[in-house]
Amino acid sequence: MPVTQTLEADALRRQDPELAEILLGELDRQSTTLQLIAAENFTSPAVLTALGSPLANKYAEGYPGARHHGGCEIVDVAERLAVDRAKALFGADHANVQSHSGSSAVLAAYAALLRPGDTVLAMGLSFGGHLTHGSPANFSGRWFDFVGYGVEAETGLIDYEQVHTLARAHRPKAIVCGSICYPRHIDYAAFREIADRVGAYLIADAAHPIGLVAGGAAPNPVPYADVVCATTHKVLRGPRGGMILCGSELAERVDRAVFPFTQGGAQMHTIAAKAVAFGEAATPAFSAYAHQVVANARVLADELGDEGLAVITGGTDTHLLTVDPAPLGVDGRTARGRLAAAGMVLDCCALPHGDARGLRLGTAALTTQGMGEAEMARIAVLLAGVLREDIEAKKAREEVRELTGRFPPYPG
Ligand SMILES: Cc1ncc(COP(=O)(O)O)c(C=O)c1O
Repeated sequence: MPVTQTLEADALRRQDPELAEILLGELDRQSTTLQLIAAENFTSPAVLTALGSPLANKYAEGYPGARHHGGCEIVDVAERLAVDRAKALFGADHANVQSHSGSSAVLAAYAALLRPGDTVLAMGLSFGGHLTHGSPANFSGRWFDFVGYGVEAETGLIDYEQVHTLARAHRPKAIVCGSICYPRHIDYAAFREIADRVGAYLIADAAHPIGLVAGGAAPNPVPYADVVCATTHKVLRGPRGGMILCGSELAERVDRAVFPFTQGGAQMHTIAAKAVAFGEAATPAFSAYAHQVVANARVLADELGDEGLAVITGGTDTHLLTVDPAPLGVDGRTARGRLAAAGMVLDCCALPHGDARGLRLGTAALTTQGMGEAEMARIAVLLAGVLREDIEAKKAREEVRELTGRFPPYPG
C-alpha cells in the first residue's frame, strides 16, 4: 500500500491530526526536494510496515532463547532471521543486529576490544573521521587516547605509509578504518597488514559502504577486520539502526558488549525491519541498484567537475562524492544554504586541505527513486547554476519539483 494512503487512512490522522500533518509535511518535503545527503535513503513500504508493527510493543532484553522477559518466542524468530540473513549477506560467522545506531555499534566494538585509556588510531575528524573516532565531544575522545591519520592534501587519498608510521610510533590497541566522507574504496588488506605488524585489532566502521558491499558494488571488510560496525539505514536501505559483524571467536564478547554492557532491551520492530531490508538486499534487484548508485555518483562527480567544482580525489568509487565549490566563488556553508533554497538538500564536509568546508553529496536516495545518469547530469548543471547564481533559486526549485514529480519516492 502506498505510504501516503496508509498515513491518510490511519488512526493517527483521526486521533492526532496535528502530528499527522507533521508526518505528511515531512513526506511532502522528502518527495519534492532532492535528497542528496549521502547518509539517507528511502526505505521500502515493507520496511516501514515492520517498523510500525506490534513488535514495537515487545520488551526483549537478552538474545533469542535467553531473554529476561517472557513472551519472546515470536520475536526470537524475527531476530534469528535477521541474524541469519546478515551472516549470509556479508559472509560473516557472527552478526549482532541489536545496535540501536551506528554509534552504538562502534561503542560496543570498543567495549568488546578495549579498556579505557587504550590508544586507538583512526581517521582524524578534520579529514572525515566520525564523532565516534575520537571527538572530544564524544565518549570515544573522552575514554580513549585517539591518534588521527589523515589524507594527502593533494590527492585526498589515505596515505597508507602515514598510517603505518603512526601505528609503529603509537602502538595502538586498535586501528579504525572508515569515514563519513571518503569517496574511495578503503584498502582493507593494507589496513589488516598494518594492524598485524603492530599487533592491533582492526575495526572497520563500514557505516557508509555496507549497502554497496551487500550489493556486490564495494569490497567486503568482513574477511579483513576483527570487527565490522555498520549502519542499516544508508545505502543498505533498512531502518535506522546499527549492526556488528565478527568472527566466531569474538562473538560472545561482542554480544555482551551490546547487551548488557552498552544497551538495554532490543528494539524488536527495528530488528524485524532490518530482517526485511537484509532480505531485500540479497536480491538481484538490489545488486543492480547498488551498481546504479555508484554509476550515478560517478556521473554526478564528472559533471560537477565539468561545471568547475573541484572534485576531491578526482571522482568516486562509491555512493558519495565530496566537492569544493570555491572555484565557483562560494564557500561550502553558503553553497549549502543556496542549494537548500533551491530544494537540493545536502551536507557540508571536511576538505583534505585547509579549514574551508566542502560539500558532500550522495546518490542512494535519488537512485531508489529511479533516477539515472541523465538525471544526474541535469542535477549537476542545476546545482552549479544555483551556486554561480546563473539560475534563480525559484526557477531551480521549479525544476526540482518537475524532476521529483517524475520520480516519486513512494509512488501513490
Ligand atoms: C563512519 C560512520 N560511523 C558511525 C556513524 C554513526 O551512525 P549513527 O548516526 O546511526 O549513530 C556514521 C553516521 O553517519 C558514520 O558515517
